[in-house]
Amino acid sequence: MSSILPHGGVLINRVAEGAEREELLKQSRSLNAITIDAWTISDLDLIGVGAFSPLTGFMNEADYRSVVDTMRLADGTVWSIPITLAVDEGQASGLKLGEKAALVGEDGTVYGVIAIESIYKADQSVEAVRVFKTDDPAHPGVQKLYSRPSTYVGGPVTVLNRPKPERFEEFYFDPAETRRIFAEKGWKTVVGFQTRNPVHRAHEYIQKSAMEIVDALFLNPLVGETKSDDVPADVRMRSYLALLENYYPRDRVFLGVFPAAMRYAGPREAIFHAIVRKNYGCTHFIVGRDHAGVGDYYGTYEAQDLLRSIPAEDLGITPLYFEHSFFCTKCGNMATSKTCPHGKEDHLHLSGTKVRAMLRDGICPPPEFSRPEVARILIEGMAEQPVS
Ligand code: ADX
Repeated sequence: MSSILPHGGVLINRVAEGAEREELLKQSRSLNAITIDAWTISDLDLIGVGAFSPLTGFMNEADYRSVVDTMRLADGTVWSIPITLAVDEGQASGLKLGEKAALVGEDGTVYGVIAIESIYKADQSVEAVRVFKTDDPAHPGVQKLYSRPSTYVGGPVTVLNRPKPERFEEFYFDPAETRRIFAEKGWKTVVGFQTRNPVHRAHEYIQKSAMEIVDALFLNPLVGETKSDDVPADVRMRSYLALLENYYPRDRVFLGVFPAAMRYAGPREAIFHAIVRKNYGCTHFIVGRDHAGVGDYYGTYEAQDLLRSIPAEDLGITPLYFEHSFFCTKCGNMATSKTCPHGKEDHLHLSGTKVRAMLRDGICPPPEFSRPEVARILIEGMAEQPVS
């Protein structure tokens, strides 16, 4: 097994199987139902398989308030993002403390049950400011938060059915599996890499810099809900495969998806991302520029600063911090301000908007920005998308 302990010490498993599952499914027919969307189904599943250890369910009021105010669960364990079950007034009014409710998808599938421990009203503008550092409804995370009901239901869950990936099923691994695989491969140190983007040269540079000091890289792209102008996950998956095939050592990289929704909570999400990767068995975690940021809501190194403020023993995974990296035409290689003496005029800079426009026009960005194999897949991907 992996040498690193899960957050809180125990890998949670709340997925029912066999007779227990059958029994709960039978019971669920007579329970009140709470309708859950794709976002909540993904949270439920990630709780179930232990990716969100030590959470055993959706947050009760004490944990929620403590996380929002102090970035710790009520028992003091570091946790930065509320994981909540938002229920509309109509459904919430039929629920009672101490009872169970069925968690049902829009298609009628019973994904799980919750033992109701707490029903409470959230002040979402306080949550927004604390978690996202803004209550601007234009922020995609805040927008999502405000679109959800403000009554939350907390309590331990049991998963009865798991969401089926539409594609790339072979890259879905539960934390227990990644932990076993890392151990089987003999990897003592594994660095996790979170991304919601195609892997460009800057990402490759920081990954490979990290790989110089650890046994292996866990490339763990987030494939849950993202905002509509992010590159779709299936296009990204094709690009990761092409990149790994051509530029990475096969025996030191493991690709597996992180089926969570993107929060865009910048600094707080960096802590969350690190903890979850610890649960998957990583010992190290890469945090570069503006991790999980969006627009200019967060400072370039704010995520790093917040992570640094958490005592190492409370985090339990080692963050590896990287400065903004770029290609320097004078150095003739990838660099950061820590390694390159030249000025901005010698650094290749392409904005996301510019890169998207090039790809849309079928033009590959320079190889110093993106590997041609990756760029070609992104161009194909753009062509497949409806023009908005
Ligand atoms: S994120 O929302 O998942 O953080 P992205 O996929 O762009 O976005 O970033 C993945 C990781 O790479 C993050 O840790 C981010 O900080 C880092 N990163 C992205 N671009 C750069 C860059 N040019 N220099 C240094 N780190 C970067």
